[in-house]
This record gives sequence, C-alpha cells and structure tokens, in this order.
Amino acid sequence: MPRVIAMMNQKGGVGKTTSAVNLAAALAASGQRVCLIDLDPQAHMTLHVGLDPDEIECTVYDLFSDSTKSAADAIVQVDERLDAIASETDLAAAESELAQQDGRSGLLAEAFKPVADRYDVVMIDCPPSLGVLTINALSMADEVLVPMQAHFLALQGVGKLLETVGLVCQSVNPDLQVTGIILCMHERHTNLAREVVEDLEGFFTEARGSDVPWKNCRVLQPPIRRNIKLAEAPSFGQTIFQYEPASHGASDYAALASCVLAGWNGDPAPSPQTEPPIAETLDAPIAADSTGAQGTP
Ligand SMILES: Nc1ncnc2c1ncn2[C@@H]1O[C@H](COP(=O)(O)OP(=O)(O)OP(=O)(O)O)[C@@H](O)[C@H]1O
Ligand SMILES: [Mg+2]
Repeated sequence: MPRVIAMMNQKGGVGKTTSAVNLAAALAASGQRVCLIDLDPQAHMTLHVGLDPDEIECTVYDLFSDSTKSAADAIVQVDERLDAIASETDLAAAESELAQQDGRSGLLAEAFKPVADRYDVVMIDCPPSLGVLTINALSMADEVLVPMQAHFLALQGVGKLLETVGLVCQSVNPDLQVTGIILCMHERHTNLAREVVEDLEGFFTEARGSDVPWKNCRVLQPPIRRNIKLAEAPSFGQTIFQYEPASHGASDYAALASCVLAGWNGDPAPSPQTEPPIAETLDAPIAADSTGAQGTP
C-alpha cells in the first residue's frame, strides 16, 4: 500500500502546492511511483503540473459527486512515475454538497482504493481550510507534512492544525501522524526565522515520548530558500526540475526528498544545514516581486 501524505496548513500561501508538486517530482525522480491529488478548488497544483482543469474529463470533484467514478477514471500521467488527479473550481461546491452526507470524510479514500497498489507515494495538496475536503485528505493519509513560513504567529496556526489532526485521530483515522514541518520561503539569516525554528523544535522535542499524533514530528532539512524560479515554474506548467534543474529551488527540494526518504528508512535525521559560503550570503535576496519571491537560482 502506498504511503499517503497530506500536505496541509489552513493558512494560505505558505508553500503547500509548491512543496507538494516539487517534493512529489523529486520522489518520482528517485524511483518512487507517485500520485499527486489536487484537493484545492483553486486547482493550482493541477496548473503547476501542466494540466488545464477545463480540459480534464474526470476530476477529483467527480470522485466526490459521482459514485460511478473511480480514481482510475481521473488519473493522468504528467511525467515518468508521476501521475496526477486534477481539481476544478466546481470542487468548492463539494463542501456544502457533502455537508449532510453519511460517510463523507471517507469518500476520497474509497475512490482511490482500486488504484492504490499502483503507487509507492500519494501526495495530497490540501486547500487552505479545515473543511470536509481537508478531512478527506486526513482520513486517507498516513502522515501529514506541514509547510510553513517561520513568521510571528505561525506557531499559533500550527496549534490549530494539530488540534484538527488530533480530532481526526480520535474519530476516523487513529494512526494518522504529523511527521514533518517544511520551512518554506525561508530566510535563515533573520533572527525571527531562527527564533521561530527554535520554538518549533522545542515544542516537538517536548512532545517526544507522549501519546500525541505529532510525537515523531521533525523540522525537515533543508529549509526551502526563497527562490524566484520556484515562483516562475507554475506559470510554465512545470516542476522545478523541468523548469530550472540547476536552481537552489531544485536542489533544496531534491535534498528534502532525501530527508523524507531517510526518515522512512529509519535513518538518523540529517543535521541542520551549515551556514552557506559567504558568496551565497552576498547573493542573498534583495528585490521582491509581486509573489514576494526573491533571489537568484
Ligand atoms: N521557496 C519559494 N521561493 C519563492 N516563491 C515561493 C516559494 N515557495 C512558494 N513560493 C510562491 O509563493 C506563493 C504561495 O505558494 P503556494 O501556492 O505553494 O502556497 P499554498 O500554501 O499552496 O497557497 P494556497 O493556500 O493558496 O493553496 C506562490 O506564488 C509560489 O510560487
Ligand atoms: Mg495551494
């Protein structure tokens, strides 16, 4: 059975989609058979992998709204060992359409069952909310990865997220674990980022040995630096490895995939990245564009 990962944070714009697509692509490049599922009506993941939501005959919305459809109808190959199930804006209606339906939190898992043995990894890109779509991802998942920016108040958001995971554990999915924090758009030279990361690590260290679903959670290495190429790649419908394989963005996500794989193999966690050479520090972000993306490849 595949390892099912929910890429989740109810806060918007923290790097969920960027991380889902590029971590999935890096895992596929390292030999894993991966299926990406877009659970966000914004359909950003769908666009990022080069699919047009208007041209897809069967999307994830059909899996929720039409019981005759199964995941086999919705799967599209987007690269070697990398498949995707697309989203569309209609998916926004699912939240209210499913509100009264019995068994609504298990619909995605049920629809995916017939194709599950085709994959080693399933990566679900969640919307920035804690509604029925995200609950479907959490019901199906083995683990949750939490992309976040190391900002003031970020920890409060993580608290709310962990509370939701705790509730899902108590009701529909007792084995669900929060296994990793992905630091996105990371500015490691700022005191704020350093302090937030220390707080996070302290929080998760305290949870070790307790019985909470985040007792094995680690801050994954390396942090993903701000990199303009990561912000550009979606508009070309390409992963960072297709768009600019020599960028910092590509090397960070490739290293992150190694960290995730090492965790699955039970290898010791890699130590935090050492300070970059001075030349790289001097090359650090200066200009910001509309996405807030900065820096050079
Ligand atoms: N490391 C990075 N460097 C530069 N830009 C980035 C980086 N990571 C993400 N971005 C950009 O930041 C914006 C938000 O990222 P993304 O769409 O992945 O977040 P999200 O959490 O999925 O957002 P939403 O909650 O709306 O689904 C996008 O424009 C993306 O291209
Ligand atoms: Mg997104």
